[in-house]
Amino acid sequence: MASSPGRAVFFLVLFLVLLGDLHCCSGSQVYVVYMGKGLQGDSDLQHDTRRLHYQMLAAVHDGSLEKAQASHVYTYSSGFQGFAAKLNKEQAMKLAEMPGVFSVFPNTKRRLHTTHSWDFMGLSTNAEGEVPGLSTKNQENVIVGFIDTGIWPESPSFSDHGMPPIPKRWRGQCQRGEANSPSNFTCNRKIIGGRYYLNGYQTEEGDSSKNAIKFISPRDSSGHGSHTASIAAGRFVRNMNYGGLGTGGGRGGAPMSRIAAYKACWDSGCYDVDILAAFDDAIRDGVDIISVSLGPDYPQDDYFRDAISIGSFHATSNGILVVSSAGNAGRQGSATNLAPWMLTVAAGTTDRSFVSYIRLENGTFIMGESLSTYHMKTSVRTIPASEANAGYFTPYQSSFCLDSSLNRTKARGKILICRRTGGSSESRLSTSMIVKEAGAAGMILIDEMGDHVATHFAVPGTAVGKEMGDKILSYIKSTRHASTKILPAKTIIRLRYGPRVAAFSSRGPSSLTPEILKPDVAAPGLNILAAWSPAKKNMHFNILSGTSMACPHVTGIAALVKSVYPSWNPSAIKSAIMTTATVLDKKRRTIATDPDGKAATPFDFGSGFMDPIKALNPGVIFDAQPEDYRSFLCAISHDDHSLHLITGDNGTCTHRTSSSATALNYPSITIPHLKRSYSVTRTMTNVGNPRSIYRAVVSAPRGINVTVTPEVLNFENYGAKKTFTVSFHVNVPPRGYVFGSLSWHGNGRGAHLTMPLVVKVQTSDKA
Ligand SMILES: *[C@@H]1O[C@H](CO)[C@@H](O)[C@H](O)[C@H]1NC(C)=O
Ligand SMILES: *[C@@H]1O[C@H](CO)[C@@H](O)[C@H](O)[C@H]1NC(C)=O
Ligand SMILES: *[C@@H]1O[C@H](CO)[C@@H](O)[C@H](O)[C@H]1NC(C)=O
Ligand SMILES: *[C@@H]1O[C@H](CO)[C@@H](O)[C@H](O)[C@H]1NC(C)=O
Ligand SMILES: *[C@@H]1O[C@H](CO)[C@@H](O)[C@H](O)[C@H]1NC(C)=O
Repeated sequence: MASSPGRAVFFLVLFLVLLGDLHCCSGSQVYVVYMGKGLQGDSDLQHDTRRLHYQMLAAVHDGSLEKAQASHVYTYSSGFQGFAAKLNKEQAMKLAEMPGVFSVFPNTKRRLHTTHSWDFMGLSTNAEGEVPGLSTKNQENVIVGFIDTGIWPESPSFSDHGMPPIPKRWRGQCQRGEANSPSNFTCNRKIIGGRYYLNGYQTEEGDSSKNAIKFISPRDSSGHGSHTASIAAGRFVRNMNYGGLGTGGGRGGAPMSRIAAYKACWDSGCYDVDILAAFDDAIRDGVDIISVSLGPDYPQDDYFRDAISIGSFHATSNGILVVSSAGNAGRQGSATNLAPWMLTVAAGTTDRSFVSYIRLENGTFIMGESLSTYHMKTSVRTIPASEANAGYFTPYQSSFCLDSSLNRTKARGKILICRRTGGSSESRLSTSMIVKEAGAAGMILIDEMGDHVATHFAVPGTAVGKEMGDKILSYIKSTRHASTKILPAKTIIRLRYGPRVAAFSSRGPSSLTPEILKPDVAAPGLNILAAWSPAKKNMHFNILSGTSMACPHVTGIAALVKSVYPSWNPSAIKSAIMTTATVLDKKRRTIATDPDGKAATPFDFGSGFMDPIKALNPGVIFDAQPEDYRSFLCAISHDDHSLHLITGDNGTCTHRTSSSATALNYPSITIPHLKRSYSVTRTMTNVGNPRSIYRAVVSAPRGINVTVTPEVLNFENYGAKKTFTVSFHVNVPPRGYVFGSLSWHGNGRGAHLTMPLVVKVQTSDKA
């Protein structure tokens, strides 16, 4: 009796894998066949839709309907049209030529935007991103969908204590998985939906993934999905105490809003076809906001060859805001999730650090960063790992503490000093496991990235930057028997002033459409404490870093804005969060960026750091309707035919006057190829006091003259729209990108909003 559900799961797995094996010729893989908006998502039509897809598939499978059905993976029919199927290259090309098909692209695996996701440990302090909620009452009617690794429904962060019945408009489902197995999943009044999408993952990873599929249900086995959902919408949890370190309460940005979990990500990542299926369902289910803490590797592919861009385009057309993470690649131009209809989030620090001191024998303390809470009793002989090199490894190789590079005899009982460079893909936790394996008593990691990410170590351990690392090495050289002691980690508030942009946060400019500034805004993403899946290390809370953690901070505030202004469309919510962001830190200096401490630019933080309270009262917004995104698509060279396919209406490009992506009514202005002069118009909509006056204040980019006309905008009623023009003239041509801002100061106690100005002068000798 007890074993039969387990067997059912096993059979299901086997069955799917067999299908893949029997019917798929070598050289084939899963493709997305994207057909744009197409027919409306009427459920009566769904049956016909699937038949049409089978017919299309049969046409490339020698007319065999059986083969067509076997190759079919998903049908998308709610938010947009298309399907996923196993195809070879030739079949994919044939399908791409068929009428009604917009694009055909291979099923690509996407990554969760967490850095050091293996480096974890619970620790207790207040969760960051707490926002006193205005109009919290209506949060109950805001539904946030998370496309992630699922959720742990029993976590105290997702308790439905005191929550009213589920909104009647909700059309979602709760896929329960196997009852009486650890997979089982139940919804409540807090988690009102749970679905999972395994087809793409299983088809791609086949046998190799069998062991990795932990729960065939929306239940979270990885922890990432529970973490992100609780940052955005977790309930207040009184005590997040761990390991005897500090105690405190924590909650998400919109603790009373509802959660729907769409589990499209499994242990090794998330596939396009599963992500698209999740978007398709979320659009139909009736979510208000979708949070996606994952993305493509950079450089990102075209908007309509990328599942997240496609899904979010149709979500936006249905009035759903999509909030996404910019990525963790750190470098210039590495930002992803670039579509202008998404709200793309960079990661910053908070004022909180997790610090673990190293005591040198001569009495000096050196500060490192760590989540390691081990108590070392005594100081221990400390050597550079290069001196413990094993077998065929050179001292240089061993200095990185690579797998098998350490000699157990030399390492036993000592603290090893290991190095790590920016390019290393090895996590700190796994390096510490190698050190533990070698019998060492502890490790000091010199991490050249200097990213201030606090991580767990398998032995007493801590991480220092290059400068402190050099100091320790010089101490080691200066004595014959150097020894050190690593003290347990503790929480320190205001060690460094925040916020700063985190070293790992991906930067602009956009590699796809440089006329659109990305990322849009920044939020805390360094060392964030939130809920976790106890399936991993039996921990209920964990501290993680990444733009994955920054994204749901913005999602939570977006849910609050939506609760205060239920009628606002995605662009209004996005505009409110962007125009009220700040570029100043707590000391009123320009926010700096790690690791070098230079002043951050809009390529680092977009409009700046989100200000949750101001976002609830933006005064005016920059509105963009679906037709504005259509004009944008025309401007970036989509033709009438492709536009018709994507949007499913009769709009054409030809009669549209605007020819530049700069013309989109975006809350920032970027001119990547300024010749001599150029003008951009924007339209503001009054959502504040019916009668309000705004005055323009320009901070011009270096070498550029900027004029705004009119300089004063006089609104006389709510909802009124005013258009202004910003003209740029090259005065002294600057090299590279230069940055400025345009602020609008409201009268009386009116709002004060700012938009970044980003300009690059195109010099005549360059094409
Ligand atoms: C469902 O799974 C959870 C977590 O593994 C377990 O605690 C619980 O007992 C299960 N419920 C049932 C009805 O089996
Ligand atoms: C490890 O070091 C010891 C002592 O120096 C040496 O005898 C031994 O051969 C080394 N082993 C390896 C695998 O390098
Ligand atoms: C201890 O050694 C460190 C590193 O060499 C040095 O910077 C520090 O001044 C020394 N402290 C004392 C008290 O000698
Ligand atoms: C598109 O145009 C055709 C012919 O002009 C018309 O019949 C149809 O209803 C239009 N469709 C939409 C969605 O506007
Ligand atoms: C820019 O402004 C300066 C100062 O007002 C003026 O001298 C200069 O002629 C202007 N240049 C252009 C190209 O408008």
